[in-house]
Amino acid sequence: MLLLMTDLLATTQAAYDAVAANYARDVPERYHSTPLAHAMTPLFAELVIAGGGGLVADAGCGPGHVTAHLATLGVPAFGVDVSPEMIALARKAHPDLRFEVGAMTALPAADGTLAGVVANYSIIHTPPEGLPETFAEFHRVLAPGGHLLLGFQADDHATRVGEPFDHSVTPAHRYSPDRIVALLGDTGLTEVARLIIAPSEDTKRGFPQAYLIARSRLIP
Ligand SMILES: C[S@@+](CC[C@H](N)C(=O)[O-])C[C@H]1O[C@@H](n2cnc3c(N)ncnc32)[C@H](O)[C@@H]1O
Repeated sequence: MLLLMTDLLATTQAAYDAVAANYARDVPERYHSTPLAHAMTPLFAELVIAGGGGLVADAGCGPGHVTAHLATLGVPAFGVDVSPEMIALARKAHPDLRFEVGAMTALPAADGTLAGVVANYSIIHTPPEGLPETFAEFHRVLAPGGHLLLGFQADDHATRVGEPFDHSVTPAHRYSPDRIVALLGDTGLTEVARLIIAPSEDTKRGFPQAYLIARSRLIP
């Protein structure tokens, strides 16, 4: 299992290294120009600030546009990504922000020190068996009451653990929001809010998109 996950991370890294320049050219512009794509980020930032504020990790940050958006919303943020090419582009685009090469399962933060974690379309490259470890890591770094924002391609079938799909970069799964909420619950994170975008808005694959905000329980 450990070996499998290490292989998978290497595959993800190589795949995103190869497309990083095109991704950085197209995706940040789409994120900013599509209201539904960034709708939950300001809400998340407000919840973080209302909870006392603090540092937020953007896990699987890609070229760093969400990290930078958080910073403009008044939330100090740093980005982590397994792809060195993505991190180089993030640093170039946002030289005032901190970006590090690393895995979502080994975030560079001490236990209970972060006010928030964002994972925007990055858990999709983690297969179902890897999600508990990933969510446990998010919970580890979050302070009690800290917030998590997840964005991902959703699956309507709550009975399925995860549905592989034809992602253009590297193998990916879409997930039932209810099942993700259940898994988060197992690690001490409780749902606060969700936004489900209608399948008709996804002109490429016709998938619903899910944005979930969860909070780390004050008493685990
Ligand atoms: C679809 S892109 C999303 C990038 C960015 N969050 C966004 O909103 O555009 C997925 C990113 O997650 C990164 N990633 C996937 N799995 C990861 C992992 N286990 N640890 C660190 N980064 C990961 C990839 O390298 C890639 O940059």
